[in-house]
Amino acid sequence: MCGIIGITSLTDKNLAQITVSCLEKLEYRGYDSVGVASLQGSILEVRKAKGTVKEVVQKKNILSMRGNVFLGHTRWATHGPPSDYNAHPHTDCSNSIAVIHNGTLKNFKELKESLIALGHIFRSETDTEVIPHLIEEYRKKGFDTFTAFKKAVLDLEGSYAILAIVKGENRIYFAKKDNPLVIGMGEGTNFVASDIPAFLDYTKKVVIINDGELGYVTPTSIYIEDLRGNVIDVTKRIRIIDWDAQAASKEGYPHFMLKEIHESARAINDTINGLLSETELVEEITERLKGSDRIIVIAAGTSYHAGLYFTILLNRLGYTALPVIASEYYNINAKRGDSVIAISQSGETIDVLMGIRKMKEKGATIISITNVIDSAISRESDYKLYMRAGPEIGVAATKTFSSQLAVLLFLYAYLAKIDYKELLSAPEVIKNSISLGEGIAKKVGEELALQKSVYYLGRGLSLPLAMEGALKIKEIAYVHAEAYPAGESKHGPIALVEKGYPVVFINDGELTDLLENNLHEMKARGAKTYAISVNKRLGAETEILIKVDKDILSPFAISPIIQLIAYYASTAKSLDPDRPRNLAKTVTVE
Ligand code: G6P
Repeated sequence: MCGIIGITSLTDKNLAQITVSCLEKLEYRGYDSVGVASLQGSILEVRKAKGTVKEVVQKKNILSMRGNVFLGHTRWATHGPPSDYNAHPHTDCSNSIAVIHNGTLKNFKELKESLIALGHIFRSETDTEVIPHLIEEYRKKGFDTFTAFKKAVLDLEGSYAILAIVKGENRIYFAKKDNPLVIGMGEGTNFVASDIPAFLDYTKKVVIINDGELGYVTPTSIYIEDLRGNVIDVTKRIRIIDWDAQAASKEGYPHFMLKEIHESARAINDTINGLLSETELVEEITERLKGSDRIIVIAAGTSYHAGLYFTILLNRLGYTALPVIASEYYNINAKRGDSVIAISQSGETIDVLMGIRKMKEKGATIISITNVIDSAISRESDYKLYMRAGPEIGVAATKTFSSQLAVLLFLYAYLAKIDYKELLSAPEVIKNSISLGEGIAKKVGEELALQKSVYYLGRGLSLPLAMEGALKIKEIAYVHAEAYPAGESKHGPIALVEKGYPVVFINDGELTDLLENNLHEMKARGAKTYAISVNKRLGAETEILIKVDKDILSPFAISPIIQLIAYYASTAKSLDPDRPRNLAKTVTVE
């Protein structure tokens, strides 16, 4: 996790301001501490502290920093608690080299011990700090900076996206393995960052850096080589991104999360249009799925719930489909003949990446569904599908959940021989659901905000949606929530139900009769009941009922409502739904 940005420019004009604006865009990746390094000729300065970008910018007067080269870092703590001294950038003994890092170094303890034995002084508990000292050590031995940087990188085991600057050099050294890093090419100013939205206000021209590559950027040039020393032809890598900077701003909404829920209709419209433009690929993938022994669906968090939804549909069609929580990938013995569907908004979630690598080694075919183009997961897949939902900044996934469902239901339509055109009204369903349901969702959210704990119950295809509802309110409103198969709730959870205990039913209209029994059981114990229903009323005390004319559309009626309930529960508690504590949008540590 952690967000990193480096800027090198021919001029020092507004560079501190630009660095701060990039850091604001990266803050969703971590917000435990923030730090900035500026370099002008031989003057290298580092200012850093625990806190959010806003707090640290003010406290450390970041905007007064001057330089042609800047590094900025926003941290999600792994080694060493959030504190001023553990904040990045970290420097070497002589304060000539500054480094920022996203990732974790497995062998940092051994490296640190040997560096200490050589006389190096450490000032933090982080794994990162070994990097500037290693570079310093190799430079002391007489190597030029780039060679010293390369040698230092070769010493590292683990995952990393690293940026380093050195006194007297108007360039940024970088290296990448298992954590994302992209270059943004401007006019006389180049950027290196964890993701594209970080610098989208300044350039849309990007170069994606692959695993195992390292190099440096100057204000006017880019040099990349792989670890074997082969020089990469950068011109072949340049891509123009069609996201606009506006898509990464709040556009008048109080939070990204609310904006992104409201953007869901547009997002799935783009998703579906994208799929319509590549039906040959979709056909190829579905043919592959039809011939598979098993279909393994691997994902984490919200993406896992979309995956679970899909596996239920596949199993109902007669396929052998296996949902896998990404961090448990080692339990799965994949083999040739299996197809793996990896679902990930970021395309960077490390557990998904490790899972597909293991399964690919065993001969399985990998199909990825990601939002971020050219992400690590898509690059390592045999077939790649994209959601095209546009950048999602809120830590909690919203519009991308709906977009994932759209991609998966598109595949399902092909497999089930349903006319995929049935999906074309999905954006309308979302719009309609929001306009009918937002008011009640707000009221429900405000009521649930006052509760300590809540059950989300569903059956069949409603269960993954119940799981997503529970995850959302837990993530951003810190209300303990548990999702359960409604029928199974009699085997334990009901013991906790007493007068006023909140139970939210997700009723997609398919198994309403059975759910009604469960509703009565809960009501009989005094539960306060809520329902999000499609087509058939369940009879809960508070109920949102949305009509759709095709079964395949029902998740699009439910998904924005569960998200809005969580959003309003969070704001009712005056929390920041875009930045839930301890969470990060992209989880790049195992
Ligand atoms: C984190 C985020 C979630 C996301 C999950 C999986 O937990 O906070 O919103 O669903 O990672 O991320 P991915 O990018 O793989 O979909």
